Amino acid sequence: MTHVANRTPVKIGVVGLGRLGKRHAQNLAFRVPGAELVAVCSPVDEERAWAQEALPAPRLYADYEALLADQDVDAVWLVTPSALHADQIVAALRAGKHVFCEKPLSLDVAECERVLEEAKRHSHLQATIGFMRRFDPSYRDAYDKIQRGAIGRPFMIRSQTTDKNDPEGFFVRFAPTSGGIFLDCTVHDIDVTRWLFGNPRAKRVFATGTIALHEGLRACGDVDNGVAVCEFEDGRLAVFYASRTMAHGNDTHTEVIGTAGALAIGHIPRASRVEIYDQHGVRNECTPTFFERFEDAFLHEAQAFVDAVRGGKASGATLADALEATRIGSALREALTTGQPVEL
Ligand code: NAI
Repeated sequence: MTHVANRTPVKIGVVGLGRLGKRHAQNLAFRVPGAELVAVCSPVDEERAWAQEALPAPRLYADYEALLADQDVDAVWLVTPSALHADQIVAALRAGKHVFCEKPLSLDVAECERVLEEAKRHSHLQATIGFMRRFDPSYRDAYDKIQRGAIGRPFMIRSQTTDKNDPEGFFVRFAPTSGGIFLDCTVHDIDVTRWLFGNPRAKRVFATGTIALHEGLRACGDVDNGVAVCEFEDGRLAVFYASRTMAHGNDTHTEVIGTAGALAIGHIPRASRVEIYDQHGVRNECTPTFFERFEDAFLHEAQAFVDAVRGGKASGATLADALEATRIGSALREALTTGQPVEL
């Protein structure tokens, strides 16, 4: 917990009430001390109707500009399609609002740079990107152990983000605006790798992928399973795997290999500590989605943002971290498309 200079509640407006926005809104309304959810924005009537039912009387806006004009909003919380993030962050900063924005910062490196330039003009405002894995207690513990030298010099990371197969193919509809599997999923592994390695610069990437189940992805050049290698300037390596087609659930885990040991974070994606002994053998249920796996992380990241706005120390991924994640994710997409290594 960071030192907090003042105890005034931070008045927040959540923008986007889709799959994840509803969760953030509920967290901020009920589960984050110091946060006050005062407004929400969605262009979709049903989503605003949901907010009226499920949340403690926030002001409802159909239009983002109208929410930004609300003088009683201190901070905006963007959970909108990734292609909108850059413009919406710039508009929020110009309106004098602190900004939390879901990952990725943008699908385009030049757009990320434009946001960083704008943020320099508003350095009194917090602006952070939601790479929540940095706030997961297990990832945090691994980070602290690495800092203390527990595994010597970490030189290799294997990290994966894999979702349970959705036979309805929600993400096939989402794919044209998501940036593809590497910018949408692997971007988390990229960020966590840079964080655990102490922010080296990437030098070269390789990537490939396949469509195991969802042929609908072919039209936008995406895959449902992707593998990538990232070389860093200091010689360290990362191997990433992303999948939309797991049978067992959300299986997100990371291994860090060092000169004096290794750490595995979340290697068995247990939903709980209950083992089931039955005719199938001995087993655990699996975390069904990213939300159950990272429920605590979402709360800790929200708390950290609120504390930072109230004068505590900023933590979490900066805009510069998020720019690097997009730079590497974009190079992976290019490597997948061209079948060639990409130098950064
Ligand atoms: P979604 O499609 O379910 O929700 C998007 C929301 O944005 C909808 O409420 C929609 O009405 C709203 N919206 C669209 N245009 C808008 C506009 N012009 N102004 C205001 N609202 C607008 O998408 P989902 O899955 O909730 O993803 C949203 C963001 O969250 C994406 O950037 C995604 O990358 C990120 N995300 C992050 C995750 C994580 O692990 N941290 C997991 C899932 C999503």
